[in-house]
Amino acid sequence: MTFETLLVEQHGTVVLVTLNRPQALNALNGQLLAEMSALIAGVASDAGLRVLVLTGAGDRAFGAGADIAELASLDAEGARNFAASGQAVFGALERLGKPSIAAINGFALGGGCELAMACTLRLAADTAQFGQPEIDLGIIPGFGGSQRLARLVGRGRALSLLLGGHRIGAIEAERIGLINRVVPAAELKAEALVLAQELAGKAPLAVRYLLNAVYAGADLPLEHALQLEATLFGLSASTADMKEGTRAFLEKRKPEFRGR
Ligand code: COA
Repeated sequence: MTFETLLVEQHGTVVLVTLNRPQALNALNGQLLAEMSALIAGVASDAGLRVLVLTGAGDRAFGAGADIAELASLDAEGARNFAASGQAVFGALERLGKPSIAAINGFALGGGCELAMACTLRLAADTAQFGQPEIDLGIIPGFGGSQRLARLVGRGRALSLLLGGHRIGAIEAERIGLINRVVPAAELKAEALVLAQELAGKAPLAVRYLLNAVYAGADLPLEHALQLEATLFGLSASTADMKEGTRAFLEKRKPEFRGR
């Protein structure tokens, strides 16, 4: 997979993708969204890839938001389509069925923060800054920020960030649950890859069922969500990896999961 706005490196079963528009602080333009859509489809269909890590080129930004130069010329219909296409890409990332890790190396603003929130887990450099500044451009978030932020940190904290438009640092982002962990900036990439390798060693089908249970279950009444969990639990128990996992435990050895 080769792209202009994304750099793709494979580390075994982990794919590391770098948003590569450093001259615009990795702002998300139409081309980058289209390339990310193709990338996600490629990762989804490749059984040899188990975890996706996303980061930003340079040491200043993960992503500074939707590309404001492109946004500025859109009419209502164009802007609606731009939001819908970004939402579709981030939705595909969330529904990838494999874990994704945002390794947030600097500004994660607007669409950059929304992209991080569509990932399964978020690791941030201690220098990272987060925010949804759209309100100060006279618009609202369009790539899921008005929905995923409240689901992650609660409505009160989300509204404070969305209405204030201000930035918060990595420590505060960790405190409110926007990210999972803060690490020294120099260690971010290595730490993200260690976490990715750890997740890549888990049983891929169980991982997929788990992600499905958590995400699909969140939108269902509890009773239906629990039924979904029981069904997926049953499905996980039908896999060869379940037999391997339980046998390895009893034989006091490390399991080797094959995704079957
Ligand atoms: N879209 C397009 N270009 C962007 C951008 C964006 N979202 N964010 C930054 N850039 C560009 C700047 O225009 C500038 O380009 P130039 O060198 O050709 O002038 C370059 O990236 C560097 O940004 P600059 O603003 O000069 O850096 P800074 O250190 O002074 O400020 C930020 C950094 C992130 C605080 C500032 O760039 C910013 O507020 N960006 C917009 C954030 C935003 O509102 N995102 C939501 C969009 S919906």
